[in-house]
Amino acid sequence: MCGIFAYLNYQVPRTRKEVFDTLVKGLQRLEYRGYDSAGIAVDSPGKTTNKDANSNICLIKKKGKVKALDEALYNGDSMDLQEELETHFGIAHTRWATHGEPSPINSHPHRSDKNNEFVVIHNGIITNYKELKKYLNSKGYKFESETDTEVIPKLIKYVYDNREKEHLSFSTLVERVIQQLEGAFALVFKSSHFPGEAVATRRGSPLLIGVRSQFELPSEHIPIQYNSARIQEGVQERNSRNKTDSVVEQQEVVGGKAVEYYFASDASAIIEHTNKVIYLEDDDIAAVIKGNLSLHRMNRQTGDSPSRAIQTLQMELQQIMKGNFEAFMQKEIFEQPESVVNTMRGRISFDGSKVILGGLKDHLKEIKRCRRLIMIGCGTSFHAAVATRQILEELTELPVMVELASDFLDRYTPVFRDDVCFFISQSGETADTLMALRYCKDRGALTVGITNTVGSSISRETDCGVHINAGPEIGVASTKAYTSQFVAIIMFGLMMSEDRISMQKRREEIIIGLKDLPDMIKKVLELDGKIKGIAQELYQQKSLLVMGRGFNYATCLEGALKIKEITYMHSEGILAGELKHGPLALIDKDMPVIMVIMRDACYTKCQNALQQVTARQGRPILICSEDDPETIKYAYQTIGLPHTVDCLQGVLSVIPLQLMSFHLAVLRGFDVDCPRNLAKSVTVE
Ligand code: UD1
Ligand code: BG6
Repeated sequence: MCGIFAYLNYQVPRTRKEVFDTLVKGLQRLEYRGYDSAGIAVDSPGKTTNKDANSNICLIKKKGKVKALDEALYNGDSMDLQEELETHFGIAHTRWATHGEPSPINSHPHRSDKNNEFVVIHNGIITNYKELKKYLNSKGYKFESETDTEVIPKLIKYVYDNREKEHLSFSTLVERVIQQLEGAFALVFKSSHFPGEAVATRRGSPLLIGVRSQFELPSEHIPIQYNSARIQEGVQERNSRNKTDSVVEQQEVVGGKAVEYYFASDASAIIEHTNKVIYLEDDDIAAVIKGNLSLHRMNRQTGDSPSRAIQTLQMELQQIMKGNFEAFMQKEIFEQPESVVNTMRGRISFDGSKVILGGLKDHLKEIKRCRRLIMIGCGTSFHAAVATRQILEELTELPVMVELASDFLDRYTPVFRDDVCFFISQSGETADTLMALRYCKDRGALTVGITNTVGSSISRETDCGVHINAGPEIGVASTKAYTSQFVAIIMFGLMMSEDRISMQKRREEIIIGLKDLPDMIKKVLELDGKIKGIAQELYQQKSLLVMGRGFNYATCLEGALKIKEITYMHSEGILAGELKHGPLALIDKDMPVIMVIMRDACYTKCQNALQQVTARQGRPILICSEDDPETIKYAYQTIGLPHTVDCLQGVLSVIPLQLMSFHLAVLRGFDVDCPRNLAKSVTVE
């Protein structure tokens, strides 16, 4: 979840300051996607026409928000900001760390060598980077960052250095590089060997190019040149004898006269400059030479369109950033089929029923020897602990305590050296959770983070941990981070129980459940229209009770929290087992009650609670299995969910309540993403 932006002006004179401003503004538009560090690569002052490759390109990178980069650009006194650049290509990136913590060295652009001969910005993940790095290391290439991305500029330099007498265009070099990459990427390259030229490509991550010219664009469609298959000579040295690319690049397709190009990972960074855009497709390689843009790719595949249309964007900026969603929270709710996959990616082998959390594997022995597990968090993160406690107890056979960080500290809870303490936090910065972490560390316990933010205080200060990789969460009310925390903790339980023969069947059932989870989430999201209808009936109410037990108790707590956070209605999550110990007094025909009743070990007990509610003229809205007529017949309204394994059902049952709270807040006229009095990250006690 990073942001790519690049700007090429061809025969459109711009001062260095204007170039900087354009790059920085582009990044600011993308900052909502990731914001822990940022960087740019531009031509060095006074070197734009110098054909000598040494240090023609300068890199400026800063940890923190784009603002920090912006300040750094104007602090360098060696820069002549008024220098006019007739033709120039600058690339820029804002990062949300996944490999290595946020720091200037880990931020993009990454470079091939000390002279910055090739520099690149990347969104996505290179899954075979370790193999590539090993190979390049063996060839003497020195790495400076902890990122996966850095293999890319090193690899392109390697191909360039080994080209012998062959003439290789910039785009051919890039093509050879991407043949070796596995994973997902959007890439933009700049090189001092190809001044004023740009190459961009993608596979699995979005990338588009905006075109602005005072001249009419020659065509509404850009033809694609298909190169015939290259001769492959071993994995690392796939060389080509084929020179079709040079022909391609002489073809004038777009541009050629005074023209500007904007490359970005989403349209929000482009729309203010031009509404003419080309969306690249997987394996497209776009190259700009002398102001001409050409597109080509390796082999034509069936169903491939022979050209890419220049589209006219009709959308407003706000609309683009949020996609078709009204609020970031809504967008994040709908991202959950992907965000849970990102939590599991590379960590679960669905064939071999194996789970490896890279951040915990070296500590597993120690964790297995512990006396108890303590899970600590605040708000939604605490609920993720409640949601997974039962399955952790079952899989680890250890006592598991769940603690609200503030209360844990207030009680001066006894903690021992043989305790393992988990700190669950989306932001990794919540003050109460951080204080609890320091408290446990002082008492010698092993500390484990479950965080969404690489480089955050909790991620850094814990002994080990798991990044949930849900991507940045903007809406104050947490949604996708909850389901990813949930999945990450269950994966921990699976890892702990791997060598228990008695647990194998249970483990397999959960792993199959995890595999099917994204599709199941999609099915639940299809209920959005129905849930909106129910919200329309409820939005003028003062109060809303949410009841359930067992694996779904946390859903009630979390659902009620979502409702109070953004709708300002009174809402309570009630353990159905406690109904007759007090809450039953609230039930009458006017009190709205949502009950979560799933087919699990608590089914009969939940049915009893349902009877008690209907016997008092309560009109329950039921979140239940879609194929459960016994329950449905008592419902005033039903939200029927697909069935999954009991311990994962909570991932599905919380989603209708996330959607419900969203619709209620909209209907009540409140700002969903910025609820009154609340902050995304509470960094004070
Ligand atoms: C790491 C990479 C990941 C890559 C994978 C493939 C990072 C940040 N992650 O993931 O992008 O796909 O290798 O090999 O480079 N940690 C804490 N506290 C926390 C969270 C994490 O101490 O709250 C530590 C972990 O113990 C680990 C490191 O941070 O040492 C990275 O954690 P994580 O990203 O979860 O590890 P991998 O899944 O191995
Ligand atoms: C704040 C937020 O209270 O902190 C909640 O408003 C959040 O939404 C809680 O659940 C904990 O935050 P974190 O970042 O530690 O998970």
